[in-house]
Amino acid sequence: MPQTKTVSSPKSEHSSPLEAEGVQVIQDNLDYTLFSWSKQKGISPIAVQRGEGVYLYDYDGKRYIDFSSGLMNVNIGHGDQRVTDAVVKQMREVSYVTPSCVTKVRGELGKKLADICPGDLNRAFFTLCGATSIENAIKLARHYTGRHKILTRYQSYHGSSYGTISASGDPRRLPVDAQQAPNFVHFDLPYLYRWEFGEESLLTESVTQLERIIAYEGPGNIAAIMFEGESGSSGCLKYPVGYLKKVREICNKHGILLIMDEVMSGFGRTGKWFGFQHHDIVPDMIAMAKGLTCGYLPFGCLMVSEKIASKYDDNVMPLGLTYSAHPVSCAAALATLSIYEKDGLIENAAAMGQYITEQVEGLKKKHKCIGDFRNTGLLGCIELVKNRKTKEPMAPFNAKPDEMTVMNKVAARIKDLGMYTFVRWSYIFIAPPLIVTKEQIDEGLAIISEALAIADEHVE
Ligand SMILES: Cc1ncc(COP(=O)(O)O)c(C=O)c1O
Repeated sequence: MPQTKTVSSPKSEHSSPLEAEGVQVIQDNLDYTLFSWSKQKGISPIAVQRGEGVYLYDYDGKRYIDFSSGLMNVNIGHGDQRVTDAVVKQMREVSYVTPSCVTKVRGELGKKLADICPGDLNRAFFTLCGATSIENAIKLARHYTGRHKILTRYQSYHGSSYGTISASGDPRRLPVDAQQAPNFVHFDLPYLYRWEFGEESLLTESVTQLERIIAYEGPGNIAAIMFEGESGSSGCLKYPVGYLKKVREICNKHGILLIMDEVMSGFGRTGKWFGFQHHDIVPDMIAMAKGLTCGYLPFGCLMVSEKIASKYDDNVMPLGLTYSAHPVSCAAALATLSIYEKDGLIENAAAMGQYITEQVEGLKKKHKCIGDFRNTGLLGCIELVKNRKTKEPMAPFNAKPDEMTVMNKVAARIKDLGMYTFVRWSYIFIAPPLIVTKEQIDEGLAIISEALAIADEHVE
């Protein structure tokens, strides 16, 4: 029998049938389902009854402003019926074909993505999510180059499947350390806020360190270096200006492929189609998911250069998935991409990102707990500190539950005040859907400001 009975109120105590239903929804979920990255007891999830625009609504009719676009994926906002209509239309025609058959939507989507992507990144292998895009990127890079090592940053997350959690430098891999897949090498790339010697020295040191690691590992053994297009869940840690350009040169010199993981930073979130486009480079592969369908259906894509694809003109490409190029997901993606363009969402992300930067400057004056704010477009986070001089974080890197007391109180206040957002260690994420308006940003920042008052009390 289920052990977690934490919602105790009987149905009759609730004023409306909908509220009673909400209690039951939570109870069933707690009793019969498992929650990602969590202790299973003591969870208090929002039971979402519906979503519209930047808002989610629970069964009590309470409204939450979604300030992290779900998990930084619902870029077009919730409940856009244009995607629903495209999905229904496709399902009425055909819901599934094997990946060896073709559909109109698959070809059209491939063509559209080739249009959006720079350089000769023209060939799409469709996947199911971020992890399956990255898994296939790793596999293809190794097969194409005949080399085995993949280098990634410690401050990165690339997914939670066997290969992708091993590729991730993120501490989420540590509890499963003994299961790590071989031939992933991580390197450190510090960020400016916690680097005392200035940006120029950060660039020089970071490039030199990477070159040293490549020499130690043997350039001829390295298939690829993989980066997030712009850093996401590690705290939006920006690349030193010019860094990715240097990395591109190093890759060219040694015949190493450059893979950009645009799962979180892609599709307009940073104010450009892809995060790497802020750095004037063209990678060899792009891994995509999240904003490709904005969570309306699970989907992903690995975009590869003509150069890589052409190897497989006369050789078997050893990749495959039952649900590759799923027609209904392709239809959802096509509808989503047209919404970005028709509604000018990428331009809005750039403009609203600028507005948030200006407004957070004001919050910094009011709240001593704000140590730093970093964003590119609508991919941003506030980093809280106990002391602006020492920069001691409000919660340490990879904080244990008992080190999260203050941050948990801040997060609980945010939720109470009617906001859903991603809070991790000492970071509060500000990554609303790309449809967000100035008024909605003001509403969200007012909630964050009220919650920050709790953290201010813990500033030394
Ligand atoms: C940069 C990045 N890559 C890959 C992934 C994995 O995507 P998924 O959870 O769809 O497997 C994530 C998920 O948050 C991500 O942020």
